[in-house]
Amino acid sequence: MSERPVSAALYDRAKSVMPGGNTRITVFMKPHPYYASHGEGCWLTDADGVERLDFTNNYNSLIHGHAHPTIVAAVQAQLQRGTAYPMATEVEIRLAELMCERVPSFEQIRFCNSGSEAVMFAVKAARAHSGRYKIAKCEGSYHGSYDQLEVSLDPTPETWGNSDPKSVPYVAGTPKSVLDDVVVIPYNKPDEAEPILRKHARELACIVIDLMPNRGGLIPATPEFVAMLKRVKEDTGVLLVFDEVITLRLALGGAQELFGIRPDLTATGKIIGGGFPVGAVAGSAEVMAVFDPGDGKPALSHSGTFNANPMTMVAGEAAMRLLTQDEIDRIGALGDRARTGIAEGMQEIGLAGQVTGLGSLFRIHVHNRPLSDYRSMLTSEREKALLSAIVHNMRNDGVFVNERGVCSLSTPMGDDEIETFLICFKSAAETALAER
Ligand SMILES: Cc1ncc(COP(=O)(O)O)c(C=O)c1O
Repeated sequence: MSERPVSAALYDRAKSVMPGGNTRITVFMKPHPYYASHGEGCWLTDADGVERLDFTNNYNSLIHGHAHPTIVAAVQAQLQRGTAYPMATEVEIRLAELMCERVPSFEQIRFCNSGSEAVMFAVKAARAHSGRYKIAKCEGSYHGSYDQLEVSLDPTPETWGNSDPKSVPYVAGTPKSVLDDVVVIPYNKPDEAEPILRKHARELACIVIDLMPNRGGLIPATPEFVAMLKRVKEDTGVLLVFDEVITLRLALGGAQELFGIRPDLTATGKIIGGGFPVGAVAGSAEVMAVFDPGDGKPALSHSGTFNANPMTMVAGEAAMRLLTQDEIDRIGALGDRARTGIAEGMQEIGLAGQVTGLGSLFRIHVHNRPLSDYRSMLTSEREKALLSAIVHNMRNDGVFVNERGVCSLSTPMGDDEIETFLICFKSAAETALAER
């Protein structure tokens, strides 16, 4: 008998109509996924009626938690007026103005429906602007599901090569031409990455960077790595494309404000849709001009039936107006408390681990080897099993965290939720260690 019989029964039904019974690999798990019933604030209730504190926030997209009343009211009002039109809307302009006021490098912006699309269109814009087609990206960084951006997402010691990383396919059937057009650099290793970038600079349309890649360990970029990116951009003119699909929540001006570097283009998404599907590409007016159909066919045609649909735009506008600097600071301080508390908890129970992240994002690691990049973050099978057991125990004990130990905070949270998390983490980890 499953611990979650309703979810188990739903999964049995799902399997016959969807391969793997599911349409989203991130929510898939054995023996079956969790099925949701409803969410409110920082609480999420599953189909079996179990309520848990939600530290995933739909993979870091719900900065105000579930069903925030202001967002619900904005969406309900829009719902009465229609959900999508074959016309532009004023609310699209308002959200564009708000985002461009907040992030200095956002001179202009265009919306789409996912972070994957946003990074894809940022790369296409860089290609259209530069006339070059190769890109550089960091080993182990996730940027969504566009072919070039999946390269070297999860290489292994058997496949990754030396300090000049190989382009390794992530999905079966990746064309060789895709691998040939992606230059992979080691993250946070400026001395190794710089010569690779300079060698290929004349062929590169852009360098795609996440300043704190969550799949790569949620390890912030070092000042030396950031300085190297600035140097290469200044010396070679290669465009910098930042993936701020997750990191935009770190400051009103995103991670780029925090790290003091201005990209040419940024792809973002998640929190700016207020809980609805969203993505956006933003950047300098000069590069963004590739999208402009004002004088006939643009260099880069950008369409999408639901681009800037008014439901997403009103939800996004409400969410962004609620996200003030004070709120970012407040949940950032809660993040500091969580990081310190997790490290203390690990020490108290003798778990050799560590915690990474900044502001309202943190990630639990169950080894204490120095962390700098993707390769240093990888775990042994035994460590992987330990993290899985901790996550499983926490979920059984009322705190929902994702399977990689990446957590995010939402504005409905306060000190009490962090204390609950810390108590739950410590007991879940202690049990997992004892059962090892
Ligand atoms: C850094 C980063 N880039 C891009 C994406 C893709 O965004 P989406 O899932 O909205 O397509 C994600 C999603 O988790 C992400 O974390």
